[in-house]
Amino acid sequence: MDTVSNDILSQKRETPGRILEIRRDFPILNRVIQDKPLVYLDNGASTQMPRQVMDTITAYHEFHHSNVHRGVHQLSQEATDLYEGAREKVRSFIGAKSTKEIVYTSGTTAAINLVANSYGTANLTKGDKILISNMEHHANIVPWYMIARKTGAEIVVIPIHDDGSLDMDAFVELLDEKVKIVCVNHVSNALGTVNPINEIAVLCREKNIATVVDGAQAIGHFPVDVTDLGVDFYAFSGHKMHGPTGIGILYGREELLESMEPFMGGGDMILSVSFDEISWNELPYKFEAGTPPIAQAIGLGAAIDYLNSLDREFLESYEQQLLEYANEKLSQIPGVRIIGTAEGKISLNSFVINGVHPHDIGTILDGEGVAVRTGQHCAEPVMDRFGIPATTRASMAFYNTFEEIDALADALLKVTELFDVTD
Ligand code: ALA
Repeated sequence: MDTVSNDILSQKRETPGRILEIRRDFPILNRVIQDKPLVYLDNGASTQMPRQVMDTITAYHEFHHSNVHRGVHQLSQEATDLYEGAREKVRSFIGAKSTKEIVYTSGTTAAINLVANSYGTANLTKGDKILISNMEHHANIVPWYMIARKTGAEIVVIPIHDDGSLDMDAFVELLDEKVKIVCVNHVSNALGTVNPINEIAVLCREKNIATVVDGAQAIGHFPVDVTDLGVDFYAFSGHKMHGPTGIGILYGREELLESMEPFMGGGDMILSVSFDEISWNELPYKFEAGTPPIAQAIGLGAAIDYLNSLDREFLESYEQQLLEYANEKLSQIPGVRIIGTAEGKISLNSFVINGVHPHDIGTILDGEGVAVRTGQHCAEPVMDRFGIPATTRASMAFYNTFEEIDALADALLKVTELFDVTD
């Protein structure tokens, strides 16, 4: 065991000064957990917010809070301007053509439920097929299962290879005339695989099949342009991109959103209401019933400003270095097997250790100040695909350091020593 420790200790890398500077924007990274410096490697579950986002949200509450679209008074107009200004930031950030295509939701899950209920219900009938990849998060499975039960449509699984990449040959084979909707994530939360969304969208567009992309794990890691991708629907959450929880986005192609009935009814999504007839508001408000998450939307706008202020190309390549470093370290730990090794994956490692339950790993790591996620990651079908009950997942962000990967490796060594794991 000493040899392994020494090997790992001998291969230190120094974190670039630019990253250490960025870390200063994230106060929570200074936390001490169990008397150890926090090593936050649960960014797949939720990313941390920089002070700039918190300050924007606080300033909104201190100076501008009111309801939006509802008042002629100054505060309401200020709140509306900030809220709609954030929508424009989102539009530009993801390359949508119009703010009509940007619907605020409470998160990715709500966004996909909206598409399933509004688009799915109207466009699926008995015998139609919904293709869903084997690596989807439950948020892009369960709403479709519910709609399939209502409409009589059938769910068909797109298989994946042993490295966790999508089986594109099988996918092409599956694209028959019964397929109406294809659901796939841009990045798998359980494996880190980056899927070829543009290729999928082109194939689907040729056959008039709608594409529904869960972008939750992509949006914080690399630039996304929905127009270049050519997708019909793209969903993501604010808290996966250093913004607040409780806010998400559904991007939908204007033509499709225009054709859809609203999912939820209430204030603001209507033009006029009588007991005989109701007319819907224009896009995107038709899909935003009730008082929206105003502060959260403004916070999302601040997160976009923050990301835009960084050199994302540098951060993307730095995250890849973190991944390589983590792969190197994990490969030296006895009994570790990484689940999901597809080329081009994001900086996320899901792994198992022979004979040790992930929950035990997570608990021991927590004792060392290292925060990871353990379990099925809301992606039970992909666990079944690999014949495992669960994994431990270390998901990195651009503010993580090489030293934190060392801390992860050292903590994992403690696990293997404690459980007497050998290869
Ligand atoms: N979807 C989040 C994750 O993968 C919660 O951890």
